[in-house]
Amino acid sequence: MTNWVDACAADEIDQEDVVRFDHAGRTFAIYRSPDDEYFVTDGLCTHEKIHLADGLVIDDTIECPKHNGRFSYKTGEARGAPVCVNLKTYPVKVEGDRVMIGLGA
Ligand code: FES
Repeated sequence: MTNWVDACAADEIDQEDVVRFDHAGRTFAIYRSPDDEYFVTDGLCTHEKIHLADGLVIDDTIECPKHNGRFSYKTGEARGAPVCVNLKTYPVKVEGDRVMIGLGA
């Protein structure tokens, strides 16, 4: 069963931007695409645990601020050195003006 967690207001995130969300000892990154869709991944880079919310959103990619590793924030796919482990992604939906993320049971 999906446990939907209220993460932030939809308008807190600009288009083509990312924000950090901490919940229950975990950290996530919430993205708003240029097409106005929302996506959620784990908040830490799989290379050296750097916060991806400090990185740069380019189209459908998040670029890590430390070594410029890139991931698709839509699928979590690692897109080249030095990152080789994919990011975990999570379900997301917008209810009213709130962004909700699905964190499992
Ligand atoms: S810590 Fe993210 S690419 Fe190295």
